[in-house]
Amino acid sequence: MIALETLTNHLIDPQLFRRVLGHYPTGVCVITALDPETGPIGMTVGTFTSVSLDPALIAFLPTKESGTYQRIRKIGTFCVNVLASNQDDLCRLFARRGADKFDEVAWNPAPSGAPVIDDAIAWIDCQLFAVHEAGDHDIVIGEVTGLGTVDDSMPPLLFFQGGYGRFSTLSLMADADDILSAHLRLADRARPYIESLAQRYGVDCHASALIGDEVIQLAYAGAGGADLGFSRVGLRLPVIPPMGSLFVAWAGPEAASEWLSRSGRDVDPIVRRSFEAHLGQIRAQGWAATPNDERLHAMESIIGSMAANGSLPVRRRELQELLGAVASDFATPADSSAESPVHSISAPVFDDNGAVVLALTVNDGRRRNGDARFDYQAALFDAAARVTQEIGGRSPV
Ligand SMILES: Cc1cc2nc3c(=O)[nH]c(=O)nc-3n(C[C@H](O)[C@H](O)[C@H](O)COP(=O)(O)O)c2cc1C
Repeated sequence: MIALETLTNHLIDPQLFRRVLGHYPTGVCVITALDPETGPIGMTVGTFTSVSLDPALIAFLPTKESGTYQRIRKIGTFCVNVLASNQDDLCRLFARRGADKFDEVAWNPAPSGAPVIDDAIAWIDCQLFAVHEAGDHDIVIGEVTGLGTVDDSMPPLLFFQGGYGRFSTLSLMADADDILSAHLRLADRARPYIESLAQRYGVDCHASALIGDEVIQLAYAGAGGADLGFSRVGLRLPVIPPMGSLFVAWAGPEAASEWLSRSGRDVDPIVRRSFEAHLGQIRAQGWAATPNDERLHAMESIIGSMAANGSLPVRRRELQELLGAVASDFATPADSSAESPVHSISAPVFDDNGAVVLALTVNDGRRRNGDARFDYQAALFDAAARVTQEIGGRSPV
C-alpha cells in the first residue's frame, strides 16, 4: 500500500496536477503583515481556509520559496484580507514577486498593525499558531485575534480554471436586474412567434438581447427533431465580431468601432472595412446572417456545453479564440439570398428610438445549402416586425 502511494506520487505530472486541481474553485485573499523595518507587505493566496472554532484557528498554505511569506513568519502576526469580486487587480498586484506592492494601495491597520486593505470584504487578524511542513509548501495555522466584515453587499472574488469570476445564484431571475427583467418581458412577447416558427419549419429559434457586453438568450424554442437538445435560456455569450452584429448595425459608428476592437488584436484595416461593409449590408437588408463556417459548428458545440454546464472560463476562452480567428479572416459576409450556405439568420426588434432591443434568430438544424429555399425567412422577418409593432417600436429599415 505504501509502496503504491509512493509510486503514484512520482507519476503525477505537474501540469495535470495543476489542471485537475484548477477544477476546484477558491476565494482569493491577501495575507498582509507590518514589517517594523520596511512597512506593509502582502501576498495573494487561494489556500485560505477556516480550521477550528475553539480555539479559533485559520490556515493558509504558502510556498516555502515566497520571500513575503518568510517575512510574515518572522513577524509572527498577520491579517487575512478577503477580496471582493471587483478587486482582481489587487489579486494580480499581490501575486507579483518582490516588494513595494503597497505603493498605491489604501489601507488601515488591524489591531496587530497588519494592513486591512480598503474595500476588502472581510479581515481576520491572527498571530502565528503553528507551521507544518508539507512538501514544497507550509501549512500555516493562525490563531484569530480579531476579525470583521467591511462590505456585506459585495460578492467575493473567485478563482477558477485560471480565470476570475464571482459568485451568483443559480437562478436567472434571482440575478435579474431591472434591465434584464425588461428584456425578459420583451422576450415573452416574442415567445409565441418563435414557438410557431420552430414548429412550422422544424428549426431552432431564440430571442436574445444585448445587455452590458454580453448577448443573453432569453427565450428558446427547439425544433424537436434537431440535434441541439438543450435549452439555451440564460446563456450569456461574449459580443465579439462577428457575434452581435445585428445589435451593432444601427447603433452608430462609435459602437461599431468599440465592437470591432473586441476581437482582441489590432484590427487589420481590411478586416475593419469588411466588417463595416457587413454592418452596412445588415442595415440595407434589415437582417443578419452568419455564414456556414466550420468553426461556427465548433462554436455551437462549445455553446452547447456552456448551456449545459454553465459559462466556464475555459469554454469562454475557447469561444473567444474561435471568434478571434473568424474575425481575423472575415472576408465576404454571407448572403442567404445568394448561393452561400447559412448557419443562422437574425431579424431585429426595434424600440421606439429605433434601437435593436431583441434579436430573433433561426438556427437551421437542417444545414441547408444555397440551392434550398429559406422558407422560414419571410415568417421570421414578419415575426420581428410584429413584435416591433406590439411594443410600440419604430423600424429605421
Ligand atoms: C489566485 C492566486 C492564488 C494564489 N495562491 C497562492 C497560495 O495559496 N500560496 C502561495 O504560496 N502562493 C499563491 N499564489 C502566488 C503568490 O501570490 C505569489 O507567489 C507571491 O505573492 C510571490 O511574492 P513573494 O515572492 O514576494 O512572496 C497565488 C496567486 C494567485 C494569483
